[in-house]
Amino acid sequence: MGEIRLHPRSSASELRATAEAGANIALTKYWGNADADLRIPANDSVSITLDRARTVTTVAFRPDLPEDEVTVDGRALTGPAWERVSRHLDLLRGRAGIAWRAQVVSRNNFPAGAGIAASASGFAALTLAAAATLGLAFSPRDLSRLARRGSGSAARSVFGGFVLLHTGVRDEDAFAEPLYAPDWWDIRDLIVVVSRAEKAVPSGEGHHLAPTSALHQARVARVAELNRQLLDALSRRDFAALGQVAEEDALLMHAVMMTSRPSLIYWLPETLAVIHRVQAWRREGIEAYFTIDAGPNVHVLTLPPYADRLQADLRALPGVQDVIPCRPGPGASVIPNPAE
Ligand code: DP6
Repeated sequence: MGEIRLHPRSSASELRATAEAGANIALTKYWGNADADLRIPANDSVSITLDRARTVTTVAFRPDLPEDEVTVDGRALTGPAWERVSRHLDLLRGRAGIAWRAQVVSRNNFPAGAGIAASASGFAALTLAAAATLGLAFSPRDLSRLARRGSGSAARSVFGGFVLLHTGVRDEDAFAEPLYAPDWWDIRDLIVVVSRAEKAVPSGEGHHLAPTSALHQARVARVAELNRQLLDALSRRDFAALGQVAEEDALLMHAVMMTSRPSLIYWLPETLAVIHRVQAWRREGIEAYFTIDAGPNVHVLTLPPYADRLQADLRALPGVQDVIPCRPGPGASVIPNPAE
């Protein structure tokens, strides 16, 4: 694998670069850590990087800044959210041997609270932009390991298309790798937004709670088999096999969440209504499956012949606020000449 090409714009008083990355939807989930400090996931996970939900981040390191400044969609981060970004920048500063603080400006092209994890695209774009700014040339694999330290799912967003994130015993082992390019398979992900409310328990906390569920170890053992089935389904483009795996692991993950102490119940009545709708469609012979992340919004996985009709029908369901149609998209990249 070659190195990621870097195009920093630098002067004596500023080092600056911009990168973009897409969010991803996991078909088998990362839930729970083998090592929480290093964010080494308890199990392997497989995702699709999405084309329509992307983050663009500019990082500028400057000698005159007293501390890091971070804005996301025009709002300055403070408290734990700011600390998380600043700690991540410390990792990169450590590699480059530089102490300069940074100004970070990040924009999402999807609304906050739309049920799309901005941490995956956000930390992938941040890691690449900061590495480019500092002139650090990482292999894509090492970039994904670094992105993982900011957010586990961000390791997958470094790559486009269909992506596998390995668990591991050591930091070196836990990296993502691309399985297939975006054009391997035109799967559609219809993101059904039933709530835009901020989630009560962020996934970072949820990962810590996973081992408190009696079902956690059982799920981790089962996911190994599900990943085997999923890799086989991807290689054969067997949509029914892929969909069955995605639904089973989404339900297993939510069973772990629901049976943690304290219990995490992310679903709303509308979540269940969409699940029932998808299962009814399958009885009618329509190829559609669901998956759900750490929130109430549902991702409906389907194929091109059904996408327009299902999107319209989902929009008509009571309580559905929006449907965002996505396809497999590209991985993270540096933007050489960003518009100011
Ligand atoms: C349910 O990557 O968001 O979306 O490392 O704390 O940022 P942090 O967690 P995060 O966890 C992902 C949880 C999930 C499943 C998945 O995307 O694999």
